[in-house]
Amino acid sequence: MKFQVPRGTRDILPPDSERWAFIEAQARTILGSYGYREVRTPIFESTDLFVRSVGVSTDIVRKELYTFDDRKGRSLTLRPEGTAPLVRAYLESAGLRQENPARLYYLGPMFRYERPQAGRYRQFWQIGAELLGAQDPAADAEMIDLFVSILRAVGLSSVKVLLNSLGDDACRPVYRDRVRDYFGGHLDQLCGDCRERWETNPLRILDCKVPSCQPLLEGAPRVLDALCDACRDHFAAVQTALRALGIELEVAPRLVRGLDYYTRTVFEVHAANLGAQNAVGGGGRYDQLVRELGGPQTPSIGFSIGMDRLVMTTGEPLPAGGPPAPDVYVVAREPGATIEALAVARALRGVDDSGARVPLRVMADVQARSVSSQMKVASRAGAKRVVFVPPDGDGYAVRDMIEGKDDMKQPDLDSLRSWLHARRATTAEAR
Ligand code: HAM
Repeated sequence: MKFQVPRGTRDILPPDSERWAFIEAQARTILGSYGYREVRTPIFESTDLFVRSVGVSTDIVRKELYTFDDRKGRSLTLRPEGTAPLVRAYLESAGLRQENPARLYYLGPMFRYERPQAGRYRQFWQIGAELLGAQDPAADAEMIDLFVSILRAVGLSSVKVLLNSLGDDACRPVYRDRVRDYFGGHLDQLCGDCRERWETNPLRILDCKVPSCQPLLEGAPRVLDALCDACRDHFAAVQTALRALGIELEVAPRLVRGLDYYTRTVFEVHAANLGAQNAVGGGGRYDQLVRELGGPQTPSIGFSIGMDRLVMTTGEPLPAGGPPAPDVYVVAREPGATIEALAVARALRGVDDSGARVPLRVMADVQARSVSSQMKVASRAGAKRVVFVPPDGDGYAVRDMIEGKDDMKQPDLDSLRSWLHARRATTAEAR
């Protein structure tokens, strides 16, 4: 029987997995430096959470959820995004709710049953940040600044920040009616999807990419002309703040996003070299979501970066591929010494003791190979030194594989370990 990775998913193998780990580590460092703390939520939630938050009429809820019943008949869904689970966790935690505002982040896989193509998968990863409990335009600016800083930290600086406002409960319904009226007169010129959107979610028509819909979209009423005074002021203040932070942006009046919880600010960051799936990430303000999920009125804003796309866009300065060379390879001189070699390898790494040392990278043979093939393996792996076990009467023999000569014998394991750790510290630059 032959098994294959499920459609729309893939394995992330070395050296790519090392690039992923590097990007994750950079992102965590930047998030930490802005005072954001990690939340890990389950990979599945009650289906209703996503229906209520992302919205019944969105593509995500209508066609893309991975939903199943558990053995007790509860409807569960693999999370298609991270904001709703994070808000659910926030509402369940008195500790988080006390933080004012709460600065939180998450990182992990999301699931959407989409048509796979380059940059679009059924399991994909997001790094997301959410700022709960802040109304001021400064919060919007901090979010977008944080987003851009994460991209910069992984070497992606040529990006375009697209910004729009979707208004609030006061002005959006009026705008929505205007859009519906406008398209209502031209339904025959819209694609099938848009005709459906006209019934359920007319604002989504504005985001349609089908060429035949474009001429009509050009003439559609603009949301920015329909904002109430409070929303217009907020939008202007966000732009002023971003300019003060030196962040270049482009106002994109047709940016509507694919989730229903947004109010006021929405944004996307696009990278030139991503092709059709060019949004590295996106986000926006969701001032009503916490209340809609059963909490108090809590104006909030957040974003998610698509890790898969981020990895695609960044080349340098990620660490070069290839397995890292061991500092030491422990060679068993006789078949009966294999287990001793494992024990010596563990002792030499130096992870048993106080933990103050950075462990050495030490490998040993696990296939009971001959001494000469162990030496070949050590050399192919690029090992800097080989240590032989068992020791002779006068100690452990050590060979410097780079210089091609024997080092001084070490009388016992403790001195061998200290000697190796000290050598690494003093020879790291020289080598
Ligand atoms: P989203 O725009 O649906 O927003 O997703 C954010 C990013 O996730 C996208 O820009 C893209 O990079 C990546 N992404 C989405 N779907 C896929 C896919 N099928 N394959 C690969 N990457 C994908 C959200 O999810 C919101 N929760 C963002 C947010 C946070 N809003 C407020 N807070």
